[in-house]
Amino acid sequence: MSQPKRQKLESGGGGEGGGAPEEEDGGQPEAALLRPRRSRRERDQMYYECYSDISVHEEMIADRVRTDAYRLGIMRNWAALRDKTVLDVGAGTGILSIFCAQAGARRVYAVEASSIWQQAQEVVRLNRLEDRVHVLPGPVETVELPEQVDVIVSEWMGYGLLHESMLSSVLHARAKWLKEGGLLLPASAELFLAPISDHTLDLRLGFWSQVKQIYGVDMSCLNSFATRCIMGHGEILVQDLCGEDVLARPQCFAQLDLARAGLEHELEAGVGGRFRFSSYGSAPMHGFAIWFQVTFPKGDSEKPVVLSTSPFQPVTHWKQALLYLNEPVQVEQDTDISGEITLLPAQDNHRLLRAQLRYKVGDQEEKTKDFTMEDGHFLFSQRPPQAARPAS
Ligand SMILES: C[S@@+](CC[C@H](N)C(=O)[O-])C[C@H]1O[C@@H](n2cnc3c(N)ncnc32)[C@H](O)[C@@H]1O
Repeated sequence: MSQPKRQKLESGGGGEGGGAPEEEDGGQPEAALLRPRRSRRERDQMYYECYSDISVHEEMIADRVRTDAYRLGIMRNWAALRDKTVLDVGAGTGILSIFCAQAGARRVYAVEASSIWQQAQEVVRLNRLEDRVHVLPGPVETVELPEQVDVIVSEWMGYGLLHESMLSSVLHARAKWLKEGGLLLPASAELFLAPISDHTLDLRLGFWSQVKQIYGVDMSCLNSFATRCIMGHGEILVQDLCGEDVLARPQCFAQLDLARAGLEHELEAGVGGRFRFSSYGSAPMHGFAIWFQVTFPKGDSEKPVVLSTSPFQPVTHWKQALLYLNEPVQVEQDTDISGEITLLPAQDNHRLLRAQLRYKVGDQEEKTKDFTMEDGHFLFSQRPPQAARPAS
């Protein structure tokens, strides 16, 4: 796939502040302070426009881990779907709505806020499902359905799970349109954290010490400048790690049951928790990686379908969300790494993910660092995921 057009979601509004408390870094970049203040409605409109292009849908549907997990998660719940009504929140090109119809749903309401709803309509027609799949344009918050539904399906997950803040739309739809005791597909999500030694970053940081060997010019004096440029910012990066980059046993720091009352307020206030790791061995620690999994109800199977974005599993388009420290910290076996992580919407743009990190590595003093999702990493990643085995 060629490099898709990237649509940037401006992070600035400026007025409400970056709010970084005694951090190493992470205040509002100057450019952000100069951007115009936008209303929540305008930001939502810009967000939906990101989904009006084909590239993002191509990337999602080509992600076999994602789409196969949804297909399997829906099919295994055929008994709950048969002759029932379904609301697909953010139907995109309509694929999940059609999976639900194929699993036996009597009526599917495919609600889509971006103009891609027109393509969903075509796909539904091509599959001769117009009588059962009704495409409804508009935000789910304002669309009127003719009835309450038995099931809600949605693929709402962003980078680091909560980037895009789409889960709040699903929770809004749950409160308004889901029958008492209705089913949510998927039903829950879990967030994981681990300290990392990023081997790709390590090679980059070591580059300036190697220039002399190649060209006979010693450029090693640029090492600390390079470290500041590459690690000293407060952006959440989206990159795929491998299992060997993980420096300690990962920990689940938040569990979101989508049926839980009050979850929408938890998301606004910030989800997170404390952590404590014991490092595996001697390595430069570069920061932390965040990833997630979502779980479907078991349906007719022994084990639930789990869609995982772990670095120990086949790569997805979500990859992992990385939080770099300002510089590498050497750890040895059993070095104690502790602290607290909180994920919340950015103050100046509720669609952007923000992370607040407090951490202590070994004997070093405790530090804090505030992060926001990298601008331009809104919907598109840099590389298409490898075709991977279907989730089981
Ligand atoms: C991650 S995509 C998933 C698309 C499709 N369900 C799939 O699995 O391929 C999310 C979609 O939800 C739409 N969306 C986000 N928030 C929405 C809202 N509040 N109401 C309706 N659609 C929404 C976006 O425009 C986008 O097309």
